[in-house]
Parts: sequence; structure tokens; C-alpha cells
Amino acid sequence: MNFDRKYLVWALGYLIVGMGVGLYMAASKNHAQLVAHAHILMVGFAVSFIYSVIHRLWLERPARGLATAQFALHQAAAIAMCVGLLLLYGGVLPESTLAPLLGVGSLGVLLAALLMIWLVRQSGRTDPAASR
Ligand code: HEM
Ligand code: HEM
Repeated sequence: MNFDRKYLVWALGYLIVGMGVGLYMAASKNHAQLVAHAHILMVGFAVSFIYSVIHRLWLERPARGLATAQFALHQAAAIAMCVGLLLLYGGVLPESTLAPLLGVGSLGVLLAALLMIWLVRQSGRTDPAASR
């Protein structure tokens, strides 16, 4: 499966989970999970979908190893961040316990974005169409 499709499938997965949390909040009239809901949908769904579009439109033949590392890092970090936020705002674990998970997750999301910039710049150098 190409990275555009992989990102698309994962994005739609986050959409379902995020909407599930949204419906739970609406039905229970308890909006405590607002921050988790927002980040599952924005970092999970929206950013993954944007990465899918970037792969589709601008990264025809990305460096395989780098693209795999970027994909794995974004997904692992997004999951760490989202699970950490769900546990935090669900009151399951205290902030002091979750801080390392949330810190590593947040940094991972940022690092994956930097890797995406690298992929885009690299593909600009190797893609002959880019010089047109
Ligand atoms: C089944 C569909 C959805 C339901 C039932 C739902 C429900 C909710 C609820 C109850 C809140 C809390 C509102 C508040 O307390 O201020 C909320 C906030 C939010 N939702 Fe959703 N949502 C849905 C879909 C989405 C989607 C598809 C996105 C984005 C792609 C999204 C993004 C957000 C964001 C960013 C916030 C935070 C807004 C703020 O900071 O005030 N939601 N949603
Ligand atoms: C490194 C990754 C990120 C970190 C550490 C982070 C952190 C935060 C924090 C601390 C808040 C305030 C939460 C509160 O109200 O107590 C917040 C809110 C918000 N963030 Fe992020 N964020 C990140 C990435 C993103 C991205 C990539 C998006 C959108 C594409 C986003 C969308 C939002 C939105 C819509 C809110 C307001 C809704 C809310 O109160 O939760 N965040 N974020």
C-alpha cells in the first residue's frame, strides 16, 4: 500500500474514534474529553489526512526508509498523545504519571512534521517535474 493510502486509512480510523468520543460527550452532557476529542481529530484525522494529500500530490517516489520512519513516528506519537489525553481527561491517571507519555508523544508529532518537511524538500530535488 502506498503512503497516501496508508495515511488515508489511518486518518479515517481517527475520524471514527474521534467522532465516537464526540458523540459520547454530547450524549453524556459531559464535555471533559474535549481536549482529547480535539486532538484525536486534529492531530490524528486532520494531520494524517494532510500527510496523505502531500504524499499523493508532491511525493511520487519518496525515500522509502525515511517515509516509513516518518509514517511510523507520526502514528506512534499521535496514539501516545491521544491515549495520554484520554487517560488524563478521563481522570484515570494523574498528570504527573502521564507527563512523560504526553511529552514524548508531543515531541514525536513535531519531529514527524519536521521529517515531512525533509521528505518534501528531498523529493523536490529528485523529481524532474519540479524543475518545470
Ligand atoms: C460525530 C461528530 C461529532 C460530535 C458529536 C462532536 C462533539 C463535540 C463536542 C460535544 C465538543 C465539546 C464542545 C464544548 O464543550 O465546547 C466538541 C468540540 C470540538 N470538536 Fe467535535 N464533534 C464531532 C466531530 C468533530 C470533527 C469531525 C472535528 C474535526 C475534524 C471536531 C473538532 C472539534 C474541536 C476542534 C473541538 C474543540 C472546540 C473548542 O476548542 O472549543 N469535532 N465536539
Ligand atoms: C505537538 C503537538 C501539540 C501539542 C503539544 C498541543 C497542545 C495543546 C494544548 C496544551 C492545548 C490547550 C488545551 C486546554 O484547553 O487545556 C491545545 C488546544 C488545542 N489544540 Fe493542540 N497541541 C498540539 C498539536 C495540535 C495540532 C497539530 C492541532 C491542529 C491541527 C491542534 C489543535 C488544537 C485545538 C483545536 C485546540 C483547542 C481545543 C482544546 O481546547 O483542546 N493541536 N493543544
